[in-house]
Amino acid sequence: MVAASLPAALDPATAGEGRAKRGAELIKQHRFASPSGRRLQLIRVVFMSSNRQSFHRVVAIDGPAASGKSSVARELAQRLGFAHVNSGAIYRAITWHILQKGIDAGDSDRVTQTAESAEITCYLQDNEAHIFIDNVDPTDYLREDRVNESVSRVSSVPRVRRIVEHKTREYARSHDVVMEGRDIGSVVFPDTPYKFYIVASREVRLRRRAAQGQRDEITMRDHADSSRLVSPLVLAKDAHVIDTSHLTIEGVVSEVVARLKEMGLKVSA
Ligand code: CDP
Repeated sequence: MVAASLPAALDPATAGEGRAKRGAELIKQHRFASPSGRRLQLIRVVFMSSNRQSFHRVVAIDGPAASGKSSVARELAQRLGFAHVNSGAIYRAITWHILQKGIDAGDSDRVTQTAESAEITCYLQDNEAHIFIDNVDPTDYLREDRVNESVSRVSSVPRVRRIVEHKTREYARSHDVVMEGRDIGSVVFPDTPYKFYIVASREVRLRRRAAQGQRDEITMRDHADSSRLVSPLVLAKDAHVIDTSHLTIEGVVSEVVARLKEMGLKVSA
């Protein structure tokens, strides 16, 4: 299947651009009408906040590798009737694409160039996010050992982060989403009140990854993700921390749903 055959309405890549253009136009008109720096700044704030308000509801699920984010996020999205988006899958898809082209993941110039020239199509099908990169569906390759090894290097490249941030925000312009990653509550959607930080002990995380039959140096990845300069893995100050070490997926989801209700999110589940 090629990206061109996807229903256009499912592709959020261009959604929201009209609003951004209108905002830019507003700033331009205001500058023309009044050159006052202060008032211009005011208009900018209005534009930026109206831009932010254009997002639907976002539940951010961040945390280190193999902490249980994906299982929890998928189940939670189903319970809430929200779309499920794994931002890590987009970083993995870009990494796979770069490796396929024989590019060294540590060569940030070539990584930037390749990521910027790739055609990345993100869309939803049955409330699950999917991705095509240069018309190829990379889903089956995202958990390859070589992708595990290189993804933290690729995701530390600022232009790559910019691309993924843009793609992930576009989902939330048209849908309520449960989005998982490393910087969703801290950088991508800092204004959402619904932030969770999912942790588990190192032993439990190693066991979970081994049970999935993967070679994955999660300790090294965590270190790289936490120490990079741009959008490192951090605990957002207003995030709810949930330790999944001794909880079932169902147990974690129930805990998250209970806290969402306390926060006033209308939840039918
Ligand atoms: O599922 P797992 O915890 O193994 O990781 P993932 O969510 O698939 O993310 C893979 C990698 O992408 C992470 O180790 C990070 O390097 C990067 N990532 C990121 O930098 N920011 C995000 N929001 C999501 C993932």
